[in-house]
Amino acid sequence: MTELRVVDVTEEQLDSVWRVRIRSFGPGGDRDEWKKNARAFIADRRILGVVDGDELIAAARIWPFEQWWNGRSVPMGGVAGVVVAPEYRGRGVGSLMMRGVLQRCVEKGYPLTALYPATTVLYRHLGYEFGGGQYKFSLQAADLRTLGGSGTAVRRATVEDVDRLLELATASNAAKRTSGPLIWPRTEILSWLEDEDTFAYVAEDGFVVYRWSDGDLVVDELVAGSETTARALWATVGSGSSIATTVQAYCAPFDPIHLLAEHEAQGDARIVRWMLRLVDAPAALAARGYPAGAVLDLDLRIDDPELPANSGDWHLSIADGSAQLTQAEPSDGALRLGPRGLAGLYAGTPVAALRGAGLISGAGAADAALDAVFGGQTPYMLDYF
Ligand SMILES: CC(C)(COP(=O)(O)OP(=O)(O)OC[C@H]1O[C@@H](n2cnc3c(N)ncnc32)[C@H](O)[C@@H]1OP(=O)(O)O)[C@@H](O)C(=O)NCCC(=O)NCCS
Repeated sequence: MTELRVVDVTEEQLDSVWRVRIRSFGPGGDRDEWKKNARAFIADRRILGVVDGDELIAAARIWPFEQWWNGRSVPMGGVAGVVVAPEYRGRGVGSLMMRGVLQRCVEKGYPLTALYPATTVLYRHLGYEFGGGQYKFSLQAADLRTLGGSGTAVRRATVEDVDRLLELATASNAAKRTSGPLIWPRTEILSWLEDEDTFAYVAEDGFVVYRWSDGDLVVDELVAGSETTARALWATVGSGSSIATTVQAYCAPFDPIHLLAEHEAQGDARIVRWMLRLVDAPAALAARGYPAGAVLDLDLRIDDPELPANSGDWHLSIADGSAQLTQAEPSDGALRLGPRGLAGLYAGTPVAALRGAGLISGAGAADAALDAVFGGQTPYMLDYF
């Protein structure tokens, strides 16, 4: 083994990345389609690899997402396709590459990064912690069919509607002060609208995107600005009930559909959890939203060996829905935390749980205020990446 290096993956290395992917995730997918998508990542320096001499032995890519946090969107690097060739595993190659990924997130100016972990160990070592989940519920198609809303105009969406869908999703996430959902790059949304196996319908103040999967219908996203629109869009999906018994829906655990459908939705056995990390603590805290009226003034001591710019003594001041993290003098009363505690706090994990797991310490009197500032709606994502 020569000295291993983190590199930007080139067009010539894509076949090697594909080979490692198949050995990591199993066969499947369309190689040419995958290569076409990968080129966009190459062009934007968002696909990294590790080489041993000339041989590419690991790869990972970074999606340029925005993620909603209490109704404000924050740039987030979504890490995906983390793969190491089997013969190189267990020797620190994954960690080396993920350090390169974190540095690239710094360079790209993403204050946050998130990922779906196949194993938490690697990512926890690098400062990621659980941020939220992707929830899938099974609804009865027949229930949805009879939800009504027939007075609401619903039409098939086309590629011309891409900006309208983005506007509607933005307005909905801002108004509902959601935490967790993603904004995908516009080109991805266009490709879904172009895909004949994905169905999109739009109303005045909402839309639905759904498809077939193994005889069930699957709702990938449903946005509704009013009860009548929610009824009309769910009923559009439910109109398939003569063929599909079940509609699987990716939605928030507190989505209004749980209050509208006659039969209780079955939560699927597994909530797929995603992990979060703050790349740039001052920027991440300043960019997100906070509950109106929440007030906090607290000294922090952050210890972040992987991203030392986050380390040090800080003062966190939150008022009028916005936050500032400024450098401060050391304080004995400071809340002490590392990147995992910071990620958990940011995601609204109850402070008692973070203390219980040893992820934060100190400043015990501030717990109720911290929960009020960072807690709130359960963070969720609709999409896997
Ligand atoms: C997961 C994967 C990327 C790890 O790569 P790697 O080069 O073996 O990782 P490292 O050697 O840097 O290991 C870092 C830490 O993670 C741990 N780790 C690695 N793989 C693990 C696994 N499968 N289960 C539990 N822990 C694991 C290591 O033990 C090490 O922790 P330690 O220092 O406390 O011992 C690699 O096994 C792989 O490609 N797997 C198949 C694809 C996959 O699952 N990708 C992840 C998608 S999110």
